Amino acid sequence: MPPARPADPFDVSGRRILITGASSGIGRHAALMLAARGAHVVLAARRREALETVAAAAREAGAAGADVVPLDVTDAASVKAAVATATATAPLDALLNNAGIAATGPALEQSVEGFDGILAVDLRGAFLVAQAVARTWTAGKRGGVVVNVASILGLRVASHVAPYAIAKAGLVQMTKALALEWARHGIRINALAPGYVETDINADFFATEAGQALVKRVPQRRLLSLADLDGPLLLLLSDAGRGMTGAVVAVDGGHLVSGL
Ligand code: NAI
Repeated sequence: MPPARPADPFDVSGRRILITGASSGIGRHAALMLAARGAHVVLAARRREALETVAAAAREAGAAGADVVPLDVTDAASVKAAVATATATAPLDALLNNAGIAATGPALEQSVEGFDGILAVDLRGAFLVAQAVARTWTAGKRGGVVVNVASILGLRVASHVAPYAIAKAGLVQMTKALALEWARHGIRINALAPGYVETDINADFFATEAGQALVKRVPQRRLLSLADLDGPLLLLLSDAGRGMTGAVVAVDGGHLVSGL
């Protein structure tokens, strides 16, 4: 008899995972990746129809369940209601705090409204969702896992993305502050800091000369694919990462260590 294989520490089957910004891009991809591994995904974003399409694909991929919860992270009442709905029948095990927006433009021309808009989603929104979910865990005397989707722009800067970089730097610091406060409750919270990920939205830009010049500055000389995030996400969301909290995991093809 061959020896029994050890249990898979990356196993997420049956885990109930709330994913914000699940209607497109990284959130949608992560939802389907986790669904294919048997997780129960709870999909949140503003548009119910878009989420229903992802939910159908998640069920097809093998999800233990796929629920849809409309949510606007800029609205505290909406966050509270969505988390109440998401936890009505069973507690959550994890939160992938991924909803985010970006905008480009020179800082000298930045409007107050534009600045507030980015921070309301990328920083305050992420805090409100993490807090609402963590409250359900402390009330239920159980722990949980949070992964904040930050960015390498939360650790270094580039031109014409000041509010975004400021918000993501805040999200990195928030990850550490909450990790410190919540470890005693059995809650782990880490940040994923992706580099430039190729998606439908930016594919045209990266085909241009400026886009190609940017790719050349990445030590691996490539953009990330959505699938490059799978392993790091599984590490942070599963018991494989049980000793990690307050960490910032960059997945960037080496972009952060590009030569000066
Ligand atoms: P995306 O635009 O495809 O997806 C963003 C998601 O957030 C969508 O589902 C959208 O509906 C949702 N969302 C936006 N505002 C919301 C609100 N007020 N309430 C609820 N949901 C809202 O963008 P992508 O690229 O998938 O981005 C996901 C996360 O990854 C963001 O936090 C982004 O900053 C981060 N990121 C993306 C990188 C990339 O190269 N695509 C690189 C580094 C970080």
